[in-house]
Amino acid sequence: MTGLIEVIREGAVAQLRLNRPKQLNALNSELAAQLIEAAERFDRDQSVGCLVVTGSERAFAAGADIAEMSDKPAAYMAERDYFAEWSRFANLRLPKIAAVQGYALGGGCELMMMCDFAIAGEGAKFGQPEIKLGVIAGIGGTQRMTRLIGRSRSMDMHLTGRMMDAAEALSAGLVARVVSDDKVISTAMEAAQQVASYSRPAVRMAREAVRRAEEGSLVEGLLFERRSFHSLFGTPGQIEGMSAFLEGRPPKFHQGEQ
Ligand code: HXC
Repeated sequence: MTGLIEVIREGAVAQLRLNRPKQLNALNSELAAQLIEAAERFDRDQSVGCLVVTGSERAFAAGADIAEMSDKPAAYMAERDYFAEWSRFANLRLPKIAAVQGYALGGGCELMMMCDFAIAGEGAKFGQPEIKLGVIAGIGGTQRMTRLIGRSRSMDMHLTGRMMDAAEALSAGLVARVVSDDKVISTAMEAAQQVASYSRPAVRMAREAVRRAEEGSLVEGLLFERRSFHSLFGTPGQIEGMSAFLEGRPPKFHQGEQ
């Protein structure tokens, strides 16, 4: 499968655009592989000074691909270490700016938070709705969101699965700037050109120093989160939550059968 990522190069900035618009850019393994491979290529390219990661008008990304993972057993998820490869993306040295229009949900919100900061459109919507599927975040959501917006707000998002609009995301500190939807890409590209225009070692050090402020025991937190996510596969809640989504009906969770 090719073409799940579109690459647009403008001077010292590379824009990586998720290109599965009909599925609201749901992150399947192939899309993840293509995005990470492209980002790693630019990370090694001395002529690139900043990345912009974006999606389409309706969705930055509506999460991990539910159809791809819905029938997987826990042993498969843990053995394959499902989505562990995203750590490679998060750890790139190149600065990454997320340009968000539409939905940034589940893995989509987590992808945004793996970037160094986000510029969102007024109509953007954010959330960690995994709880509604009988699972939890698995690409850093519980860890990164808590560091970004604090435990109370993060708990609200992870336990209720509700969405946040752009104004709330800005006031909570989940995104750095909100602009009109039609200015999201140009604003992010301008910011990226500015970052790319500075001394590369200074940019790297500023980025690493800021990251250091929040990354205390993140590695353990991420592994803990991923293992918890894996272990939910095959539970009645996961089977019901994902089947209900794929069948287009509301889920019925039976307490006491978990
Ligand atoms: C697979 C998805 C999808 C997803 C949307 N689609 N999100 N497919 N995985 N995460 C597909 C739909 O099935 C549909 O396909 C098409 O995209 C359009 O979506 P609709 O639901 O028809 O659009 P709309 O009614 O506008 O609702 C938009 C939405 C809703 C609110 C964003 O799609 C939604 O709730 N999506 C799921 C969000 C979610 O739960 N994300 C968390 C995933 S778990 P068809 O073929 O019918 O047109 C996760 C875990 C991360 O991210 C950890 C991994 C390790």
